[in-house]
Amino acid sequence: MTTRYRVEYALKTHRRDQFIEWIKGLLAVPFVLHSQPTGVFESRSHGVEQMAEMAHRRYAEIMKDVEGMIDDHIKHQNVGLHGQSKLKLLVPSIGTFFTRLPLARAFEYQDKKRLISSRRFVPPSFNDVRLILNTAQLMGVIESGKLDLATFDGDLTLYDDGKSLEPSNPVITRIIDLMSHGTKIGIVTAAGYTEAERYYQRLHGLLEAVKVSAKLKDSQKQNLIVMGGESNFLFTFSPTSPYLLAHQPRRTWILPSMSTWLQPTITTLLDLAESSLRECVTNLSLPAIILRKERAIGIIPSVPGYKFARESLEETVLVVQKKLEMSEVGRLLPFCAFNGGNDVFVDIGDKSWGVLVCQNYFGRLAKSSSSSTPSNSEGVGDEVVVAVKGERTLHVGDQFLSAGSNDFKARVVGTTAWIASPAETVELLDELVELVSMKKEADSKQREG
Ligand code: IMP
Ligand code: MG
Repeated sequence: MTTRYRVEYALKTHRRDQFIEWIKGLLAVPFVLHSQPTGVFESRSHGVEQMAEMAHRRYAEIMKDVEGMIDDHIKHQNVGLHGQSKLKLLVPSIGTFFTRLPLARAFEYQDKKRLISSRRFVPPSFNDVRLILNTAQLMGVIESGKLDLATFDGDLTLYDDGKSLEPSNPVITRIIDLMSHGTKIGIVTAAGYTEAERYYQRLHGLLEAVKVSAKLKDSQKQNLIVMGGESNFLFTFSPTSPYLLAHQPRRTWILPSMSTWLQPTITTLLDLAESSLRECVTNLSLPAIILRKERAIGIIPSVPGYKFARESLEETVLVVQKKLEMSEVGRLLPFCAFNGGNDVFVDIGDKSWGVLVCQNYFGRLAKSSSSSTPSNSEGVGDEVVVAVKGERTLHVGDQFLSAGSNDFKARVVGTTAWIASPAETVELLDELVELVSMKKEADSKQREG
């Protein structure tokens, strides 16, 4: 029998973002009350402009109210009572906010672009809300200082699934522009290879462009790193290395809390994941081969060009994840089970650790070139590191559902933007440039006035 629990779980929890759905629900009310679908065939009905104006005002009011609730949640967060905020009661899955989210302003910005208020038949959608949240997050980061670290997922964020970052990819000039303004860059990908050559194959367009860039000083070129296998393999840009990347031995960069990830525990976790994956392959009759790596295990199609059904991939992720969560070893070691589009992988560690390592790596680099006194710090060996803060970090990725997604984990260590394609990443970075210049203009007007 299909229980209510299973229906709810399958239909909602892992395929919905509660916060976005909640905002969508709030915006649906003015849409129902003020949209004028009959205007299409009835001349007596309100004009589209009047309707758009009214809908715009009501949507903006709602976004302002939600913004206020987030401010209240942040106040609770600051005194360790985030569990008691009104927002937490309304949206139990809500997490930590690293900055304010100026939602009303972000709505104004996106409404100009997407004409949300002018629509008569299609209410504010998941994508509308997701993009408003991204804009608000960029605004929040800009308001609270400067973007010190941008981390990017690889597949579907920088390039199409399973493809490479080719020299013609428009994201390259945007990343170089960010680097020229002092932002550090981490490519935080699940793709887990031990050799520089494999990363070069995936990222060569960017690596070659950074190498020859006249816009970047040599010191700025050092501000590009690749964190592979979620949080397992670190490579730094190195113009003199054969594949432009230098492998960094794990002992030089792991965080103290990662030193407890010992080989016997890793083997036990991967063994359990393997048996669980094998079970799924049998039960779902998947034409798959099991790929076991040093720090990951996955299934990929055994027949070239074969596409797994989405449902089979999701079922496999949820089964393996549950099995690991319920196990003893799953409580000893962080892991990430996710649906990679046409494969399922279980990695040791996750992107929260990957981004955290980037924050610490660049903190350490900054420390060795300055003598400032540390305030927020994490020790690595004898060093005290001033890590890049969460509110100055932005992780851009495509996988933000609560189960079966790997970018989701990055939310606990910094701000995030949820994009749906490599083209959206380019748009997001252009938006960042535009918002920074709008902020500068507003600041200088304020100084003059
Ligand atoms: P991401 O989107 O950049 O995080 O890359 C995820 C993709 O990398 C997965 O869908 C896999 O196709 C591929 N991949 C290759 N090796 C690994 C691994 O060791 N763990 C997880 N994913 C891997
Ligand atoms: Mg991805």
